[in-house]
Amino acid sequence: MSRIDRCCILELPKISDPRGNLTFIEANRHIPFEIRRVYYLYDVPGGAERGGHAHKTLHQFIIAMSGSFDVVLDDGRQKKRVHLNRSYYGLYICPMIWRELDNFSSGAVCLVLASDLYDENDYYRDYDAYLTARGYK
Ligand code: TYD
Repeated sequence: MSRIDRCCILELPKISDPRGNLTFIEANRHIPFEIRRVYYLYDVPGGAERGGHAHKTLHQFIIAMSGSFDVVLDDGRQKKRVHLNRSYYGLYICPMIWRELDNFSSGAVCLVLASDLYDENDYYRDYDAYLTARGYK
C-alpha cells in the first residue's frame, strides 16, 4: 500500500435527531491514534491556503466542523484532493504526508485532532527537504 493510501476518510457516529444531530468521538475507539492536542482553523479568508508542510511523526484527523474545504495530500509520488463538507466524516493523515488546505467556504471551521503536542521540529516546511527525506531527491 502506498503511503497516500494509508490516509482515509473515516465515518464518525451520528445520532440523527429532529432537534439537531449529534456526533461524538471517543478516545482509542474512533480515531487510530491517541489524541494529545486539538486545534482549529476559522475565519479563513476567501482564497487563503493553509498547511504547506509535512509532519515527521504526527498523526492527524481533520474534520470540517462547519462549511467545507479541500485537503490536497501528497506523498511525493501521488497527489489526492479530498473535499470535506460533513461534520460526521474525518480525514486521517498518517505521518510524512505533504498537505495543503484550500477552497475554504465562508464560515468554514477545520478541526484537527493530533497525536502529539505542538513541536516545530516535527515539521518539514520545505518541499525539497521533504522529498529528500522520502528518498525521492
Ligand atoms: P501551522 O501548523 O503552519 O498552520 P497550518 O498548517 O494550519 O497552516 O501553524 C501556524 C502557526 O501556529 C505556526 O507559527 C505554529 C503555530 N502553532 C502553534 O503554536 N500550535 C499549534 O498547535 C499549531 C497547529 C500551530
